[in-house]
Amino acid sequence: MGNDPKTIDWDSIGFNLIETRSMYKAICKKEDSWSSGGLVPFGNIALSPAAGVLNYGQGVFEGMKAYRTVKNRIVLFRPDMNAKRISISTKRLCMPEMDEGLFIKAAKEIVKDNTDYIPPYGKGSLYLRPVIWGTAPVLGVKPSDEYTFIIYASPVGPYFKGGVKPLSLKVTRDFHRAAPNGIGNVKAIGNYSASLFPLIKAKKEGFDEVIYLNAGNEQLIEEVGSANLFILKDNVLKTPKLAGSILPGVTRDSVLTLAREILKIEVQETDVTLKEVCSADEVFCTGTAVVVTPVGKITSEYGEHNFNDGEMGKVTHKLRSLLIGLQREEKEDIFNWLYPID
Ligand code: COI
Repeated sequence: MGNDPKTIDWDSIGFNLIETRSMYKAICKKEDSWSSGGLVPFGNIALSPAAGVLNYGQGVFEGMKAYRTVKNRIVLFRPDMNAKRISISTKRLCMPEMDEGLFIKAAKEIVKDNTDYIPPYGKGSLYLRPVIWGTAPVLGVKPSDEYTFIIYASPVGPYFKGGVKPLSLKVTRDFHRAAPNGIGNVKAIGNYSASLFPLIKAKKEGFDEVIYLNAGNEQLIEEVGSANLFILKDNVLKTPKLAGSILPGVTRDSVLTLAREILKIEVQETDVTLKEVCSADEVFCTGTAVVVTPVGKITSEYGEHNFNDGEMGKVTHKLRSLLIGLQREEKEDIFNWLYPID
């Protein structure tokens, strides 16, 4: 049925599910192509205990946001990028390849039907969670015969408790997030289940999140479980290159573009060593959920490294403001990143 939008306290929402009115649902057989589904009331789904997703983790997802802008419009931010990525993810997990046009049409429909759940201008966004699962039963290891595509939505505020205060991150050598030639470069559900144990352990020790090292070369950093990582040193912005096990983040790409085109600073997608991270001038992470969140402290075998006296670094602040300004139409959409919902 969904929560009553009139009862939502927009000033205190975080990143927890608030049920909305409806979700988009489509079904596709293994050998078919995706065709349109439709809106159904938000609610539970029935699954065979032998469903491919439950037994062998055959599932992929996305995260994207709709905003109310200063021009009193509703916009989606770069949904074409999510559409491309989920089509790559579906191929990698042997599912019928998601149709990019259908994906964007479905996203628009779900936003239109749930506009009263979009937080007021400046108070957050409507987070869309597209998911595709193998739903038919399978006993032996093989792709499922049938798939379900759902987009559900939830109003959200800041991802981390306490808003955008600089994070305290722990570098782990005990766990890797993804293996070379594995599925780290697609948005497979299993990547996130693998990150739960290290995350809970780090949280118990007082950290906000974990920095993973590259499984093939532990000198190099990879990403944070829920976000990509950037460092700034001597006005050069660096982030690990997409070499097969890093998620190609939409916010990662947007920040690289803003830094290069607007701030005119040098950007490098390259190998980034743990030592470089520890001696950086600024460190931040990016993602649809985390937006641009500063890192204030990193703990590793090289000790504790503090950045910017617990404040947000200047360049981090500029990039965050530019991105949010574009998403809220306070700045001109010169890259054509906004998809208005009419
Ligand atoms: C996102 O940033 O949207 C993500 O999907 C990361 C996380 C919340 C799983």
